[in-house]
Amino acid sequence: QDNVRNKIIEAHELAAKFYHHILNNTVQGEEAKRYLIERGLTDKLIDQFMIGYAPVNWDVLTRFLMNRGFDPKLLEKGGLISVKNDGEGYYDRFRNRIMFLLRDRNGKPVAFAGRIIGEGQPKYLNSPETMLFTKSRMLYNMDLARSAIKKVKQIVLFEGYMDVIKAWSAEVHNGVATMGTALTEEHCLLLKRHCDEAIICYDGDSAGQAAAYKSIPMLEHVGIKVLVALLPKGMDPDEYIKTYGGDAFRHGVIEQAVSVTKFKLIYLRKNHILSREEGRNQYIVEAVKIIAELDSSTEREIQLKELSKEFDISLDALKQDCHEFRIQQQ
Ligand code: UTP
Ligand code: MN
Ligand code: MN
Ligand code: MN
Ligand code: MN
Repeated sequence: QDNVRNKIIEAHELAAKFYHHILNNTVQGEEAKRYLIERGLTDKLIDQFMIGYAPVNWDVLTRFLMNRGFDPKLLEKGGLISVKNDGEGYYDRFRNRIMFLLRDRNGKPVAFAGRIIGEGQPKYLNSPETMLFTKSRMLYNMDLARSAIKKVKQIVLFEGYMDVIKAWSAEVHNGVATMGTALTEEHCLLLKRHCDEAIICYDGDSAGQAAAYKSIPMLEHVGIKVLVALLPKGMDPDEYIKTYGGDAFRHGVIEQAVSVTKFKLIYLRKNHILSREEGRNQYIVEAVKIIAELDSSTEREIQLKELSKEFDISLDALKQDCHEFRIQQQ
């Protein structure tokens, strides 16, 4: 069993080098390379993250690895190749895609994510789940980010591979991403072993914000303190860095991450029309509920004061409501 695992890792190592070589040194890889450079990646980043390109052919990787003595059954088990429909022979799982190598937290290559060049569906094709790759446990870049995370006891949680890589180029070295799936309890427990604090930096679209909202209690449940980095509407971290640069991202987004309460209030605001009395009243009631969740009475008072000022309501009335919500929450 151990031998099978090692062989699958070895196959991924070779496949990664193969794809990387095609991207960097062949005519077939030129379009993909141009695309990556246009998106702001450098040769150094392409090397560090071992990015590659899987050509359009049906079986280049299959032949490459079989020529090196790999058993196709093992390659299939590892998710690199598939059996043909008629049951005769094999073909490459990834074709005409930019290849992101997925390494486990010890740096062992265990899977790939292949991105289409430009538009198309699916945008990313991931390796299937294998004995070495479980999406609910995998965090992209955990291997490279580990030492930075250890130093600052903090992680930055992104949605996508490109976000992690672009953030890395902006000297945010403690960034990781889930595998396109939602954050799981297993991810949280794993993170808790490495850090005390997480900055959620998901996409600035409604899906990203909803995912951030959902992830907060999961992280808090394992004892991780949460902050949320806010992005302009509809932008993701990678687009932000491309538009405004790495320094702006670090100083203006990551360092400006807000508390969970602030984030929830901002989120709540988006769902109420404050110019209407009804919307305004609902917002105030819900806002007090959020504030009531704060453990510190000082913090609660600060937030209630802001609310009192903004909507010209007596602080006493807000405090009274807050108190009642706290009794109900117990
Ligand atoms: P996004 O749609 O936000 O993509 O999905 P992205 O990361 O910004 O990708 P680029 O910048 O367009 O290249 C976020 C993450 O969800 C997963 C991937 O991990 C992706 O990075 N995903 C997305 C998939 O696994 N499959 C998909 O088809 C799309
Ligand atoms: Mn190289
Ligand atoms: Mn997204
Ligand atoms: Mn995105
Ligand atoms: Mn993106």
